[in-house]
Amino acid sequence: MSESLHGVFIGIPKEEIDTPALLIDLDIMESNIRKMADFFSTVNADLRPHTKTHKTPIIAHKQIEAGAIGVTCAKLGEAEAMVHAGIRDILIANQIVGKQKIARLINLANHSDIMVAVDDPHNVNQLSAAAQAKGVTLRVLIEVNIGMDRCGTEPGAPTLELAQHILKSEALRFEGLMGYEGHTVANPSLIERKIATEKSMTLLVDTKHLLEENGIPVKIMSGGGTGTHKITGAFPEMTEVQAGSYVFIDATYRNVEGGGDQFDCSLSVLTTVISRPNPTRVIVDAGLKMLAKEFGVPQPIGIDGLEMIGLSEEHGRMTADASVDLTPGDKLELLPTHCCTTVNLHDCYYGIRDGVVESVWEIAARGKSQ
Ligand SMILES: Cc1ncc(COP(=O)(O)O)c(C=O)c1O
Repeated sequence: MSESLHGVFIGIPKEEIDTPALLIDLDIMESNIRKMADFFSTVNADLRPHTKTHKTPIIAHKQIEAGAIGVTCAKLGEAEAMVHAGIRDILIANQIVGKQKIARLINLANHSDIMVAVDDPHNVNQLSAAAQAKGVTLRVLIEVNIGMDRCGTEPGAPTLELAQHILKSEALRFEGLMGYEGHTVANPSLIERKIATEKSMTLLVDTKHLLEENGIPVKIMSGGGTGTHKITGAFPEMTEVQAGSYVFIDATYRNVEGGGDQFDCSLSVLTTVISRPNPTRVIVDAGLKMLAKEFGVPQPIGIDGLEMIGLSEEHGRMTADASVDLTPGDKLELLPTHCCTTVNLHDCYYGIRDGVVESVWEIAARGKSQ
């Protein structure tokens, strides 16, 4: 959407926004940001919120204003969007591999205080050579596999070996360790999540101790998500937590006891009923191109007797009790089951306060997966 069009929407009631449209309840989002900041004011760890959720610099700035030390990004493109918006302290919690991306990373390091995750000695050599050629010192964290079985060195000796290798790389500065317990963050059972998370974080802490026993200082210990922020954040050895979804909270995270349920849902997709072919079928104008469904179909908000049963590309299919009062042209809001991937399908947010549009924000890092 062009800048000049943004102003057209300011002040209109949310029901008048054309659909499908992504809405943020600004009061709820701001309250979520405050709640998370309040928690991190009580523990040793700081908050480094993950921008993969909102992909939008103004929200990152709000998180930093509330006390976050910087941001986490999943991709270089996301990090570029944040740096262009004046955010300096960034962790790319991912491996940056290949000549072109490494060149972009090193250029970005010239304009920011960026850190990147590594788990491979050849990648370390390539990063170091590129940084040296540009006269840049690049900060790195070793990603350790603490049970998710995604990226990462194995805890203990293999991580020590890579840290020793990094220390020999002149243009790199070893900052510490990162371990993401992604296999536990969304477990709805608090007790199961606590046991699994503590097991994972203990692997990371033991590895930190091993490095220190070998004379390697470990300044940064990074990990955690919305579902585990209280568990991981309570470890005295952890210096930062990478929670992302807490700003929005989707239908999946709101059932995560003692994690996502500490916050409220602020994100919705506004849709229009385009057809009611019979009393029990309602069709809306948002489908797979506006709503992610890898965690299930979205849920209609505030209408009893209405259930979403399927999505095709541009249609949402719902069953309705005959008593549900919806006809073509009526609008309703849907609660996404996965906020992060839903956001990535939209160009902008409509920020709503007191029922009217207060702001229209471009989702600057939307689709920036390179
Ligand atoms: C590396 C990393 N850190 C942290 C998170 C936590 O995010 P959330 O708070 O949305 O669970 C994720 C989620 O994908 C992640 O990949």
